[in-house]
Amino acid sequence: MSKLFVCDHPLITNKISMLRNKNTGSKEFRELVDEIGMLVCYESTRDIELINKTIETPLCETEGNITAKKIAVVPVLRAGIGMTNGILKLIPNAKVGHIGVYRDPNTLEPHEYYCKLPKDISDRIVFLVDPMLATGGTACMAINFLKNRKVKNIKFLCLISTPEGFGKINKEHNDVNVFTAAHDSELNDRGYIVPGLGDAGDRLFGTK
Ligand code: URA
Repeated sequence: MSKLFVCDHPLITNKISMLRNKNTGSKEFRELVDEIGMLVCYESTRDIELINKTIETPLCETEGNITAKKIAVVPVLRAGIGMTNGILKLIPNAKVGHIGVYRDPNTLEPHEYYCKLPKDISDRIVFLVDPMLATGGTACMAINFLKNRKVKNIKFLCLISTPEGFGKINKEHNDVNVFTAAHDSELNDRGYIVPGLGDAGDRLFGTK
């Protein structure tokens, strides 16, 4: 069964409120998405496996740790790009892949248009990132791409999720856990999250 982790630390919740505000301009919106992406990533890496490595302090030898597995960050184009740099600040050695999926505005069905992933993606823990987990259609399609390339360990990171989106991931990919900064109650008939924050891509890139 998938788990839903709502990262509701007060600092994150405060930043989410600023993000929701329609008067927040693109520059501040981008900075907030970057920061919240980093904080959600921090929470999502709690269970990352470590292996021991002997290190020398100025005083003596001691047991240190390094992460056991390599990581890849895979943003879903285009809004996922907004969260990527924040995550890379915490995991600078991660490789980055991209998956392009758009939602048909009439049917709300997801369609793939781009996929470029690191060659060794199947050996990596993959952080799939998209700010808005709305119907879950895009997320499930992106998870399918990754599983078709033999990825075994996937975490889905977002900023705002819905019961419908999480339910779809849980139904189709119950080995994937979801890490979000807020869990909203509703989707409207155009597939927008309510209260949400509007169109994350447009607000990030100033295209509306
Ligand atoms: N994508 C967005 O950018 N916003 C939503 O509310 C839903 C999907």
